[in-house]
Amino acid sequence: MEIKTIMVLGAGQMGSGIAQVCAQAGYSVILRDISDAFIERGMKVIDKNLQRNVEKGRMTAEEKDAVIGRIKTTLTLDDGAAADMVIEAIIEDAKLKNETFAALDRICPAHTILASNTSSLPITQIAAATGRPNKVIGMHFMNPVPVMKLVEVIRGIATDDETYRVVEDLAKKLDKVPVEVNDFPGFVSNRILLPMINEAVYCLMEGVGTVEGIDTVMRLGMNHPMGPLALADLIGLDTCLAIMEVLYEGFRDSKYRPCPLLRKYVTAGWLGRKSGRGFYTYS
Ligand code: CAA
Repeated sequence: MEIKTIMVLGAGQMGSGIAQVCAQAGYSVILRDISDAFIERGMKVIDKNLQRNVEKGRMTAEEKDAVIGRIKTTLTLDDGAAADMVIEAIIEDAKLKNETFAALDRICPAHTILASNTSSLPITQIAAATGRPNKVIGMHFMNPVPVMKLVEVIRGIATDDETYRVVEDLAKKLDKVPVEVNDFPGFVSNRILLPMINEAVYCLMEGVGTVEGIDTVMRLGMNHPMGPLALADLIGLDTCLAIMEVLYEGFRDSKYRPCPLLRKYVTAGWLGRKSGRGFYTYS
């Protein structure tokens, strides 16, 4: 099956990045969100990223215009009727994802593959909301999408080989490296990354180190490109907490208990870069 048109749901930091790399790879993209303001913000980020490429001589201004021209924006899910593939990157809310996939199943043609960029929710459960669980799959991009090479490709229990093959091929065309993983809470990436971040927050709560101290230990001691608390701010503290909840619920193992300080920050609305304040403050 040949993919020509990709619908991306959600124009936030993940969705806008996914739309950008799909359009850069030559696909027609339909970027959908629920308000003009969200769409505008997402398109602004894409424009800024592409402009940087022009300034660095990696792309001409004409190429940039062509990429932007391949992205059509919409507020309606019904435009999924024209999509060969949908990549969902909406908020991490299981009920909303299930409803969205059930609606997509009604709207999209029978051949359309429905992928979720969920960071930890079970693909098998999302697939069960549709009448085509064999064509539902996880396609987990990393933040920032235009920079990070990895895509975790997650098979639900019913995902068929043809769907896997098409998605693996798509990831390669987007200049990413796909890695196949099975459907367990947090997959591989977040099962390993998030407990590390959570532990860093415990270190902070218990006074083992300061924010800067903890991050410096991990940057200079382990050669991580950024410290765990700075990375948490990049990911979004609400997303970090949601992933820890999925691990805790999914395994029922106390080692995944979300740190109370992480919960407190989220309750305060300190969500990281996107809200201007997390473990660091942003102007
Ligand atoms: N969007 C697009 N491009 C970006 C970007 C963004 N948000 N942030 C940085 N870049 C680009 C910069 O423009 C720069 O590109 P050029 O070299 O072409 O100029 C390049 O990335 C390097 O950026 P910087 O020099 O500013 O800074 P850096 O070298 O520290 O790199 C980083 C920034 C790529 C974010 C790096 O710090 C890094 O790799 N951090 C770790 C990121 C990570 O772990 N991501 C995974 C998060 S987990 C996840 O996403 C899964 C989940 O479900 C939670």
